[in-house]
Amino acid sequence: KKNLFSGIQPSGIITLGNYIGALSNFVKMQDDYNCIYSIVDLHAITVRQDPLVLKKNSFELAALYIACGLNPEKCILFIQSHVSAHAELNWVLNTITYVGEVSRMTQYKDKSRKNADNINMGLMDYPVLQTADILLYNSSVVPIGADQKQHVELSRDLAIRFNGHYGDTFVVPEPVINKYGAKIMSLADPLKKMSKSDENINAFVAVTDDKDTIIRKFKRAVTDSDNVIKASKDKPGITNLLTIYSVFADKAIAAAEKEFINSNYGDFKLAVAESVIAKLTPIQEEYKRLLADKAYLNQVLINGAKQANDIARRTLSKVYKKIGFYMPE
Ligand code: TYM
Repeated sequence: KKNLFSGIQPSGIITLGNYIGALSNFVKMQDDYNCIYSIVDLHAITVRQDPLVLKKNSFELAALYIACGLNPEKCILFIQSHVSAHAELNWVLNTITYVGEVSRMTQYKDKSRKNADNINMGLMDYPVLQTADILLYNSSVVPIGADQKQHVELSRDLAIRFNGHYGDTFVVPEPVINKYGAKIMSLADPLKKMSKSDENINAFVAVTDDKDTIIRKFKRAVTDSDNVIKASKDKPGITNLLTIYSVFADKAIAAAEKEFINSNYGDFKLAVAESVIAKLTPIQEEYKRLLADKAYLNQVLINGAKQANDIARRTLSKVYKKIGFYMPE
């Protein structure tokens, strides 16, 4: 089996975008790969976090991973800061990364615009740390949403560059991106990505939203006025809702279009909301149950960190040898 690495930031809300673009694939892929899934708290602090809230979010994301179907017996689940090799490899990779290539990254430019008062070094270094995450585990595949494609391309470039300088060391990773649902759009503005940091809470549905909230948010979803339920470029709102429905109801887009051929937007939106609720309700119940079992979650995280650390340390030693750091033997 090949190795797979991916991660999600513990920055609070986990949206339907995160679920469709990433989490649901994490679950699907866990039998076919050696999966390593991280709660990337080192990444989260590139924007200001309240320490108590960050702590809570990290723990809760561990519960959500398992509630969504990740099995800690099959995959490694761990918190990034528990494995110091991430920061260590990050440093080494910094020395082969050009300032020009990271300052050109779309997400860096975006985030700098939004956090103009805190354009810190970490924000720029974010994709290099992400590269360390991936390369430490010899990962062949990296499941992500479309917005992370550029970062994984940098990871490929850096792996190839390092191998070129120091000899074959890293596996060159491939991004795995959904054909549909790689970019779930905002419910308030279907030309914008659905994002947890949107100031309009009607723009996103959180995986932990209750039924009434989910129904309300879908009812308010911005669409168009021609009452035709069809996926097309000029109908971004309806296309987005069809994509969400197709994932949650497990039907092809064409089948969904057929199903709603005689429906109005109101009925369609309600059906989308119901499909989301049907899938999320059992996840939410399991999530609540797990949150109450702190001892179990802690044990999962301790075991996960141990396993991750074993693999990561091995890669880091190999790297240190290749670059010529002296080791007394
Ligand atoms: P984060 O937490 O911002 O996002 C987690 C995952 O959710 C995907 N995603 C979406 N997919 C579809 N539609 C959306 N609207 C949407 N919004 C978010 C993201 O693409 C991502 O896959 N930098 C990563 C975290 C990370 C990582 C890694 C990923 C750190 N190290 C190593 C892979 C490998 C991120 O965006 O997290």
